[in-house]
Amino acid sequence: MAGRGGFSSKFGFIAAAAGSAVGLGNIWQFPFKVSQGGGAAFVLMYVLFIFILCFPIMIAEIAIGRKTQKNPVGAFVDMGFKKWSIIGILGIICGVLILSFYNVVAGWAFGYFLEISQGNFGIGKEFSAFTADTTTVGIYSTMFMLATAFIVSQGVSSGIEKASKILMPTLLFLLIGLVIYSLTLDGAMRGVEYYLIPDFSKITFKVAYTALGQGFFSLSLGMGALITYGSYVGKNDNMVSSAVMIMIADMTISLLSGLMMFALIASQGLDLNSKGGAGLIFTVLPGVFQNFGSVLGIIVGAAFFLLLSFAALTSTVSLLEVPVAYLVDEYKINRKLAVWGMALLIFLVGIPSLYANGGSDFFTNFITYPGADASSSFMDFVGHVANDTFLPLGGLLISIFTAYVWKKHNFSAEIAQGNPTFVGSWQEKIIHFTISYVCPSILGTIFILTVLDRFFGVKLI
Ligand code: TRP
Repeated sequence: MAGRGGFSSKFGFIAAAAGSAVGLGNIWQFPFKVSQGGGAAFVLMYVLFIFILCFPIMIAEIAIGRKTQKNPVGAFVDMGFKKWSIIGILGIICGVLILSFYNVVAGWAFGYFLEISQGNFGIGKEFSAFTADTTTVGIYSTMFMLATAFIVSQGVSSGIEKASKILMPTLLFLLIGLVIYSLTLDGAMRGVEYYLIPDFSKITFKVAYTALGQGFFSLSLGMGALITYGSYVGKNDNMVSSAVMIMIADMTISLLSGLMMFALIASQGLDLNSKGGAGLIFTVLPGVFQNFGSVLGIIVGAAFFLLLSFAALTSTVSLLEVPVAYLVDEYKINRKLAVWGMALLIFLVGIPSLYANGGSDFFTNFITYPGADASSSFMDFVGHVANDTFLPLGGLLISIFTAYVWKKHNFSAEIAQGNPTFVGSWQEKIIHFTISYVCPSILGTIFILTVLDRFFGVKLI
């Protein structure tokens, strides 16, 4: 569409969508959720949910975006189903919430890059003091938000696409190198077993819904980010194969970073069921880099946290793009104004999260849910609301919309453009079956039980 820009090629879209998907969710959040969720049992649920529930919804989001060439609110209006644009409104709120805390963690990653560049490997042991220093982290987060806003203000194809194409493969290679190194360490196998051999008694309902939330979060699903990106996809591209590639790329990075982390944790003789939570990679990795010796340690460690910051940047860009596309399309607001206004708003919404990791006692021990044995920080709370509740809810609504409102044959007709053999194929049968029956029933059940369990302490299963 004129004025909105578009990806220059199919590969450009895949790179940008994979850039959105791969981020802190894979490298920072995935390992600590695995360790809170009892290891391989969590990994198994995560992989199953991605194949069964996330994949069909991913296709639906891309199809809705490409069909309408609109933002997640305008898309539903454009198709003639104005009421369903509530999905887009929820998505925009959710994107604002996610970016508000994501930006703080991105500030940590960038801060670690600067510290390790100066040879400060001791920063690993000082994680709590580091995050409690809200002035320093606040400066890094501000820089991060400025960088995000700058890229988004440049428009989607020039900024996002170029950065993703170079940096993602580099990150993958560094990660593979670190995995190989970690596996050679003494004692690493204890971590590998914990990570890969499921203990089925660990599968509780909470493990299941956390794994589901992680799947949605990691694939950037359930809030219309892929509707927005799908709106920039060419009509002749095969979106099923694009979605497969994005999903594989994202899962590979998560699974590799988990493998690396558990091998490292085990080799250091630490407890695999970490209670440390969000600090996991930040406390463990600097000491590992130090063992490489001062020169190599600085090079590898700084490269790691710099690439992690870039991976986060290609994700924050996709999060900011959603509300911006909405304002630009629906209210004809000037793109630059929309970008800077939203960035400021989201930064302000993120201030409590900035203070939620030791900076202020109130935000650090923000809420204790009924029946919970410990308090959750404001940042955790936002994650519980956005990742574990809103994203699967968005997925649920998208699946119902696609199967029963938009209707399956229209959905298929959109996919068939760029994929001529799709109609009548087994691919179509599987996607239709999952989107109409499996996603609505499972996501609906999990959504209700999650709200009861998490926020009200009512445990029905
Ligand atoms: N998927 C990203 C990550 O794993 C985070 C992210 C970017 C996201 N855009 C999103 C999450 C949209 C949910 C929705 O780091």
